[in-house]
Amino acid sequence: MFAVSASSFDSEDPLSGLETGDRPEPEVADGWTTIEVRAASLNHHDLWSLRGVGLAEDRLPMILGCDAAGVDSEGNEVIVHAVVGDPDWKGDETLDPRRSLLSERHQGTFAERVAVPRRNLLPKPPELSFEQAACLPTAWLTAYRMLFTRGHVVPGMTVLVQGAAGGVATALVVLASAAGARVWVTSRSEDKRNHALGLGAEQAFESGARLPERVDVVMETVGEATWGHSIRSLKPGGTLVVSGATTGSAPPAELGRVFFLQLSVVGSTMGTLDELDRLVRFCVEKGVRPQIDKVVALADAREGFEAMLTGNLAGKIVFTV
Ligand SMILES: NC(=O)c1ccc[n+]([C@@H]2O[C@H](COP(=O)([O-])OP(=O)(O)OC[C@H]3O[C@@H](n4cnc5c(N)ncnc54)[C@H](OP(=O)(O)O)[C@@H]3O)[C@@H](O)[C@H]2O)c1
Repeated sequence: MFAVSASSFDSEDPLSGLETGDRPEPEVADGWTTIEVRAASLNHHDLWSLRGVGLAEDRLPMILGCDAAGVDSEGNEVIVHAVVGDPDWKGDETLDPRRSLLSERHQGTFAERVAVPRRNLLPKPPELSFEQAACLPTAWLTAYRMLFTRGHVVPGMTVLVQGAAGGVATALVVLASAAGARVWVTSRSEDKRNHALGLGAEQAFESGARLPERVDVVMETVGEATWGHSIRSLKPGGTLVVSGATTGSAPPAELGRVFFLQLSVVGSTMGTLDELDRLVRFCVEKGVRPQIDKVVALADAREGFEAMLTGNLAGKIVFTV
């Protein structure tokens, strides 16, 4: 079957290890099933994999992709939850130390077919297209958990989103504004700031700019480039939720501010199947839809990877099969 894989790692030139072509059909373990992939979305995770972060060399070649929407063997339209946990684990799957994401230990979704645990499937509602549904399991689910489970965002709070145009950042803007928060964003580019205003942000600032007032909660996925600004932007008692560090993961910790202003720094990773279910219902009931930058055929996946590598995107990149 046709698939898009990582065949080698290169931290400087990640796309040198990107391969498109024929790969073996998925092997289906007990309790697993095969999905005919209709759409799959690109995440920064796929670039990290090509850089050798989170993927072991002895797993190569590995089909990339965490997210998929497709059709199961009984003809049902489904969304795939990307977190594969230990079947004996009880409770929040994101806390299972043996969990992995599709494309880390098991072959990923950038393929005609993918094998997944049956328990990872949710019905795709008819209101969402395959392309929209394929955006939800990683970037949108991460944003949902950051805001509502870890950040305890409620209507009327002011939420600062660092970076306006990324997959997680656009999801944060759309979900937080749909939930009644006042959303402020930062971005390096004027076009992207304007784009965020169109998605529901109330104000958009240049990265690092002084804000008119301090905020209740900051959403961080950028890392070193924006960390200091995030800490300085919080009200006393405020909360910083971090799920990514695209520009580096070792900024100065600003401990003086953290303890003196009694700030909370909270980590967040992916989300549970229940949270994905609630996110899907939120999208259907509120009429919220993922922001898709472009849809390209899986055969042209390199085009999408190049756009993400250069930061030339606003929202999600989706591959159709
Ligand atoms: N923990 C988890 O479960 C989880 C889940 C999903 C994602 N993540 C992580 O979150 C990060 C974002 O993922 P994504 O898929 O949304 O990636 P993406 O679509 O490539 O987004 C990258 C974002 O980073 C911002 N950015 C990049 N370089 C910057 C710089 N020098 N200064 C300021 N902003 C900069 C961009 O903002 P502008 O272009 O608007 O400035 C954009 O919003 C990645 O590191 C990813 O691994 C983690």
